[in-house]
Amino acid sequence: MAFAGKVVLITGASSGIGAATAVHFAQLGASLLLTGRNLENLKAVAEKCKPSKSFIVTGEITKETDVKNIIESTIKQYGKLDVLVNNAGVLEHGSIETTSMEQYDRVFNVNVRSLYHLTMLAVPHIRETKGNIVNVSSVCGLRSFPEVLSYCMSKSAVDQFTRCTALELASRQVRVNAVNPGVVITDLHRRSGMTDTELKEYFENSNKTHALGRTGDVTEVAKAIAFLAHDDASFITGVTLSVDGGKHAMCPR
Ligand SMILES: NC(=O)c1ccc[n+]([C@@H]2O[C@H](COP(=O)([O-])OP(=O)(O)OC[C@H]3O[C@@H](n4cnc5c(N)ncnc54)[C@H](OP(=O)(O)O)[C@@H]3O)[C@@H](O)[C@H]2O)c1
Repeated sequence: MAFAGKVVLITGASSGIGAATAVHFAQLGASLLLTGRNLENLKAVAEKCKPSKSFIVTGEITKETDVKNIIESTIKQYGKLDVLVNNAGVLEHGSIETTSMEQYDRVFNVNVRSLYHLTMLAVPHIRETKGNIVNVSSVCGLRSFPEVLSYCMSKSAVDQFTRCTALELASRQVRVNAVNPGVVITDLHRRSGMTDTELKEYFENSNKTHALGRTGDVTEVAKAIAFLAHDDASFITGVTLSVDGGKHAMCPR
C-alpha cells in the first residue's frame, strides 16, 4: 500500500496507459481522481480500482473551464493533491508537407497546452503536499521519426516542460519527471486514423524497431509512472525515463 493516504489525479484515465495507471495506483492504495471524456469507460476503470476510492470528473482537457473544474473537484473531494499524472494525449500523422494546421493545433492543444494549464493550476496544491508530477511523453520526444512531425514536436515540448518545471519547483521539494514509452498497443493509433492493415503492419514491424523485440504493455508503463511518483524516487527529478524496450537506443545500420 505504497500510496495509502495519497491523492493521485490521472488525465486520460478512461483508456490505455491512463486506465492501467489508475488500476496500478489503486492496487497501491491511492485515492484517485479519474478524468477523461468517456464516462462509461471511466466508470469501468473506477470499478476495477475498487476497493480503493476513485472519483470521476469528465472533461474536455482543451477547455479551460473543464481544466479548472478538474482541479477544483479534486480539492473539493479530497482536500489535497499529491501526484499529478499528465497522461492524456493524441497522435496525428503527417509531415511538414502534409500536416494541416488543424492537426497541428489539435496535437498541441491536447498534448502541450492543456498539460501546461492543468499543471499550472495543480502546482499550488502539489507544493502544499510536497508531491510530484509525472508526464507521459514518448520515445518520439527523444528521437526523431518522419511522418509524425507535430506529435514528435509536442512530445519534445513535454520533455522540455518536464526539465524546466523540475528546476523551477525543486526548491519547493516538488519533483517533476516523465516517462517516454515506445509502442504500446492501445486505442491511440486507431484513433489517429490508421486502418486495420496499417495497424497490423505497424505493430508487426514494432517487433523489429524495439531492441527487446516486442511492443510494450500498458502495465509496464504504469509501473514506471508509479515508481517515479513514489518516495523510492525521492532523488530523481527532471528525468525523461525511456520505457520502450530499448527503442531510443537503436540506430539503423
Ligand atoms: N500507446 C503508445 O504506443 C504510446 C507511446 C508513447 C506515448 N504514448 C502516450 O501515452 C498517453 C496515453 O495514450 P494511450 O496510448 O493510452 O492512448 P489512448 O488509449 O487513446 O488514451 C488516450 C487518453 O487521452 C484522453 N484524451 C485524449 N484527448 C482528450 C481530450 N481532448 N480531452 C480529455 N481527454 C482526452 C482519452 O480520453 P477519452 O477516451 O475519454 O476521450 C484517453 O483516456 C498519450 O499521451 C500518448 O501520447 C502512447
